[in-house]
Amino acid sequence: MEKITTRAQEEIKSGRVTPAQFKPSNESSERELTRDEVLALRNEYIPNVVFKYYREPINLVRGEMQYLYDDTGRQYLDAIGGIVTVSVGHCHPEVIAKTKAQIDKIQHTTTIYLHPAMPLLAKKLAEKMPSADLKVTFFTNSGSETNDLALTLARLFTGNLDVITLRNGYHGASLAAMSVVGHSTWKYPVPTSGNVFHAMPGYCYRCPFNLTYPSCDVHCARDVESVIKYSTSGKIAAFLAEPMQGVGGTVTPPPEYFKIVYEIVKKYGGLFIADEVQTGFGRTGTHYWGIENWGVTPDAISMAKGIGNGIPLSALTTRKEIADSMLGKIWFNTFGGNPVSMVQGLATLEVIDKEGIQANALTVGNYLKDKLTGLMDKHRLIGEVRGMGLMLGVELVKDRKTKEPATSETAEVMERTKNYGLLIGKGGLFGNTLRIKPPMCITKSDADFLCETLDKVLGEVEVMAK
Ligand SMILES: Cc1ncc(COP(=O)(O)O)c(C=O)c1O
Repeated sequence: MEKITTRAQEEIKSGRVTPAQFKPSNESSERELTRDEVLALRNEYIPNVVFKYYREPINLVRGEMQYLYDDTGRQYLDAIGGIVTVSVGHCHPEVIAKTKAQIDKIQHTTTIYLHPAMPLLAKKLAEKMPSADLKVTFFTNSGSETNDLALTLARLFTGNLDVITLRNGYHGASLAAMSVVGHSTWKYPVPTSGNVFHAMPGYCYRCPFNLTYPSCDVHCARDVESVIKYSTSGKIAAFLAEPMQGVGGTVTPPPEYFKIVYEIVKKYGGLFIADEVQTGFGRTGTHYWGIENWGVTPDAISMAKGIGNGIPLSALTTRKEIADSMLGKIWFNTFGGNPVSMVQGLATLEVIDKEGIQANALTVGNYLKDKLTGLMDKHRLIGEVRGMGLMLGVELVKDRKTKEPATSETAEVMERTKNYGLLIGKGGLFGNTLRIKPPMCITKSDADFLCETLDKVLGEVEVMAK
């Protein structure tokens, strides 16, 4: 390291190269490690609790649009998009070129100085909002952080403490975000922010009230009022929810759900905060933001993942008067708003517009959903296919009547699809919903490959499960 720094300094000082042109010598570059070596290192130096997929994990060394490649050169269709982070394609050339150019200029200063990229990205986001009032944006680095901030703001703005969120939701792993998570799987017995109350999601396939839509009159949404009346002080700071529950297994509420909830939230003084970490940026197809599918304009949108196409970047966009409730103290985030993430975010949003990514999510998403639904005739394991655009879920059950979750079968399906070159995710409290959320540049022929592979694997697993 010492040697390289010295040589770099000498070469740059002599004018032979610019910092951007400097190439470190080969001695310093590490040889590529094999999968087994990486696994051994990981097992020794990374805590076991750091989650990884597959009995036989894969060592991914290259990404190109919707495809990933392991250390043996094997290609995979990435149908989970690095867990919904890669929106326009792995290493999208235009995004990467702009980010590299920024890295060559300046990487980091913090927001105490001016840099054009942060306000430019905020302006771009404001242009995409469902209301002109949603105009100002805070930048952070992860979904957890942006949801923490959303909760702080809602409490400051309203002067109320209690927050309503949904069972089966996921909002992050920080202490405040963990408080709003509605899954025991992701919660530790530690003191979280408190004053959080969980209402019922619109999960019709497993109705928490054992009712049937539409004769239920969307009781799950109306019940939010009784949660407020019975469990809170009677005034709330916020309702925070994902328009479609991602980690919870692509749970998609009925069309009236969020409109009913919105009215209740307003009646009790709260802000409506949409966690668009997974559903934003056109993924649901018809609209740029997931919540727009329910005809609701939120008071704030928290976002992460797809906004940065793989770079740590998250944001919270809200109304100016809500943001101003933090005035009087200093809000600071060391890496939030850094030029590299800002440039990559801006480049990603430009590509979404330029390449018709949202329209592709709708066309290929509908095509894929129809084909997946078609597989139900052949495969008894499929209980339900749901979702919108390129945010789809396939819930697997042992028996369509009892709806007993097919948890081990789902794990087996994932392992086997991977072996055939297809990466998918899973979710739901029982880990029995296949999650399909690929980079939104996938094509119909990728969708065909996905369905053919799933068809083959479901057949194999059904034989095993007999
Ligand atoms: C809807 C939603 N919100 C928040 C988060 C937390 O994001 P992060 O892991 O970047 O903190 C996630 C992560 O999966 C998410 O799916």
